[in-house]
Amino acid sequence: MSVEQSKRSVTVIGLGPMGRAMAGAYLDAGYAVTVWNRTPGRAGELLARGAREAPSARAAVEANELVVLSLTDYDAVFEVLEAVEPALEGKVIANLSSDTPGRAREAARRLAEHGAAQLTGGVQVPPSGIGDPASSTFYSGPVELFQRHRAALEVLTGADYRGDDPGLAQLYYQIQMDLFWSSMVGYLHATAIAEANGITAEEFLPYLSSTAASMPGFQAFYAPRITGGDHRGDVDRLAMALAGIEHVRHTAEDSGVDGALPAVLAEAVRRGVEDGFGAASLTVLVGRFRRE
Ligand SMILES: NC(=O)c1ccc[n+]([C@@H]2O[C@H](COP(=O)([O-])OP(=O)(O)OC[C@H]3O[C@@H](n4cnc5c(N)ncnc54)[C@H](OP(=O)(O)O)[C@@H]3O)[C@@H](O)[C@H]2O)c1
Repeated sequence: MSVEQSKRSVTVIGLGPMGRAMAGAYLDAGYAVTVWNRTPGRAGELLARGAREAPSARAAVEANELVVLSLTDYDAVFEVLEAVEPALEGKVIANLSSDTPGRAREAARRLAEHGAAQLTGGVQVPPSGIGDPASSTFYSGPVELFQRHRAALEVLTGADYRGDDPGLAQLYYQIQMDLFWSSMVGYLHATAIAEANGITAEEFLPYLSSTAASMPGFQAFYAPRITGGDHRGDVDRLAMALAGIEHVRHTAEDSGVDGALPAVLAEAVRRGVEDGFGAASLTVLVGRFRRE
């Protein structure tokens, strides 16, 4: 198959909400789309729009040079890859399933053993963002393959290439998710305290938004200091942070809300204070989180 042909046809394996949105975006862009899903019956609407359903994962891989994997995790990826091994030679697997950087590297190694290559992807938007060039996906893997298939990948979202190491796309994705999950759980905890005191989530929203909007300013102030190893406590002190988090925990508990979440935060800060960093900035925790 020529490069031109491969640019206009694609296989999508995995038809969860994300894979269905991806196959739909390719159909919208005029691609010939072959799909396969472990549980039959998920391709219905895509078939009505012109997609072709392969009878097996192997047949789906055989159909195109570019194969997009959108599976729950890499356990699912390894299970599918095992079933398609004889068809992998020469294939480019855009693996847009989430997992750890280490597992992404392992998958790339296994694919190379079978003559295939992986472009790892970390999709940063929900299915509703697929097909929108303003959305973004982290990619890593062989740069020449990324360049060759960039147009096809950009049918899904904007493409942010992070480097050759197949783990990098997942690393960037997971550090974004670290912030996302702690922010979302923190938001829900704060909302629980609000609701316990008769303030609805909607009433809380403008104040929540204002605090969230202040975060980029803090991050822009602290990032160069963290990079430079400068943790001076001139604008904030770890001991102050400990007292502040304890006030949150007590407010939660006084409201009948579980204080376990702020207690975990307080514990991380308390260890720093007990080790003699009470007068340093909260940013000193960056180094102390590391286990070496
Ligand atoms: N949804 C989001 O908002 C979002 C956002 C960013 C990134 N992502 C990532 O994108 C990926 C797909 O998301 P999704 O929401 O579509 O996930 P999902 O609902 O878990 O569906 C994923 C697909 O994986 C298949 N699968 C699971 N285990 C399998 C196995 N052992 N063998 C073969 N197929 C298997 C499922 O097939 P069956 O139908 O047979 O179960 C399904 O087609 C995930 O890695 C997710 O973390 C999702």
